[in-house]
Amino acid sequence: MVNPFVIKSYESKEFFCDREEELQLMLKNCINKTDMTLISRRRMGKTGLIFRLFDELKSTHPEIFTVYLDIFISRNLDDFIKLFAEAAVKAFPTKTKIGERLMNFIKSLRPQVTYDSITGEPQFQIVYHNDAEKEYTLRSLFELLSSQNVHIVFAIDEFQQIREYPEQNMEALLRTYMQRCNNVTFIFSGSRKHLMTDIFTNARKPFYSSTSFVSIDKIPEQSYSDFIFKQFSSHKRKITEDAVNFILEWTQRHTYYTQFLCHTIYANGQKNIDLPEVKKACGQVLSQREPVYLQYRKMLTDKQWDYLIAVAKEGSVRQVTSADFLKRYKIGGASVSKRLVESLCEKELLNAEVSLDGIEYSVDDVFFSRWLENL
Ligand SMILES: Nc1ncnc2c1ncn2[C@@H]1O[C@H](COP(=O)(O)OP(=O)(O)O)[C@@H](O)[C@H]1O
Ligand SMILES: [Mg+2]
Repeated sequence: MVNPFVIKSYESKEFFCDREEELQLMLKNCINKTDMTLISRRRMGKTGLIFRLFDELKSTHPEIFTVYLDIFISRNLDDFIKLFAEAAVKAFPTKTKIGERLMNFIKSLRPQVTYDSITGEPQFQIVYHNDAEKEYTLRSLFELLSSQNVHIVFAIDEFQQIREYPEQNMEALLRTYMQRCNNVTFIFSGSRKHLMTDIFTNARKPFYSSTSFVSIDKIPEQSYSDFIFKQFSSHKRKITEDAVNFILEWTQRHTYYTQFLCHTIYANGQKNIDLPEVKKACGQVLSQREPVYLQYRKMLTDKQWDYLIAVAKEGSVRQVTSADFLKRYKIGGASVSKRLVESLCEKELLNAEVSLDGIEYSVDDVFFSRWLENL
């Protein structure tokens, strides 16, 4: 039987836990053609939710087309256009009118076409003679979408990546073209919070206030524990209540880590799962990852490393300059602490969770945090 705890992408509804409220909100936004921004910590479930939404749209609104564009690997406008074209070709079969027009347009760019050796999907290498030609191609792709009499939901994942492009006018360019697409609902998703927030909430930036926000937080405890019981029991396994509680606590209910631990426990094959069985799996997970953690050790200074251990031992820290914290872990002065936090956030080893109560810091990778706290 297949492992009922998915740790890669989205499989289907039955392997997906909750997110009902977020899903309903996103469906409503789609139907009302409200563009939206999805922001959360890494691995909390944004991409999964986008595919869950697409799945739902397919059954409830089959007339809506969905496009998924992940720009994580893109480094410049060329890459963006290439990935855009590939995503569109994948979304619109050539037998549809829009698919046919799209293919004709792409052919007119005379790209070099290759096929992905695994998925068989086409990949385009396009050569441009100047920047104007690039912008023209981008504009044409958006115009192609907007000239169709169909409703399209277009998700761009890891959208903050456009901030890394050498082209300075990306946001203005995209905003201009997107604004003309009345029939397209855009979903902008991203994990790098400060960049995403700046793109959508900075009054001096093109996308300012242009979207509705959907926040993705931890899945509620009751939902997740019901889900874990159900997934195990429907696969003829039994798990005790204290084992489930421990899983949720140890992984801090952070979706990827909770899924990964459950996946490991299931893979171990025991029919009856109790607390010692769960703890065994926790140990396996940490020892598998140890080489990666030791690699981090090499990249960091002693002070940075000790600081991570301090934060891990605390679980999370709100007052990084409090005398108590500084003294307990022999950190030094408040300014030293601030600098260390800054550099570790920059490296994305620490996560800063901003709320009305202030900022709360924790080690970004939950398993790494568990490993560090044992040192
Ligand atoms: N609601 C959910 N139920 C079960 N697994 C989920 C859920 N949401 C996400 N996952 C799983 O958690 C992991 C991280 O989710 P992902 O959507 O990739 O996060 P993000 O895009 O926010 O970084 C993936 O392996 C995914 O399969
Ligand atoms: Mg993602």
